[in-house]
Amino acid sequence: MKYRGIIFDLDGVLCSTDEYHYRAWLALAQKLGIPFSREDNARQRGVSRMESLEILLEKSPRSYTDAEKQELADYKNRLYVQSLQNMTEADLSEEVRSTLKQLRKKGILLAVGSSSKNTPLILRRIGLAGFFDAVSDGNGITHSKPHPEVFLKAAAMLGLAPQDCLVVEDAYSGIEAGVAGGFDTAAVGFARSHPKADYALTCFADLLQIAEG
Ligand code: BG6
Ligand code: MG
Repeated sequence: MKYRGIIFDLDGVLCSTDEYHYRAWLALAQKLGIPFSREDNARQRGVSRMESLEILLEKSPRSYTDAEKQELADYKNRLYVQSLQNMTEADLSEEVRSTLKQLRKKGILLAVGSSSKNTPLILRRIGLAGFFDAVSDGNGITHSKPHPEVFLKAAAMLGLAPQDCLVVEDAYSGIEAGVAGGFDTAAVGFARSHPKADYALTCFADLLQIAEG
């Protein structure tokens, strides 16, 4: 096997929560009267909730105190968590489910590496709670992507060196985090155009060949 472990980003890789994030940030922006585009939203991929808020506030005519920012982030998160209640095991695609199982059968260790503090909730909703060998998420890190901390923690939890692990990402910041941590990276969706990704996946099941080398 070329890789002993694979570390998956969650939002946009294992499941599609991006639209829920976008709609919740858009609702906040509209409430504040701040313009907010899909391009702004793309820059929020992979980065923490508070850093995502800072991106949204870049176009704000007024400044906010730290306490106000916390309230704004809480407001967005309440909307986002409400929409997560619509998620079920049907939101885990059959392709992702079966690929994960086949990778495990090959003896590869599997981890999640996500900036999201909602990771445990989302994994429960899509039926993957308890599935992974390690979960490293926004609750256990002080620096979010493009800093490699979340992936380095995941690799350490697996007991593996970064060179033995592949990081799978949909965000530019995530590919950069993987590269900065010394991992090989596989890009899906939005991140496929990142020049530093080692692989650009055409479908999730491509990982089965890539893992073998
Ligand atoms: C990342 C998303 O996975 O998690 C970002 O790509 C999001 O868009 C970040 O801001 C933090 O998520 P949460 O659930 O902790 O607000
Ligand atoms: Mg993502």
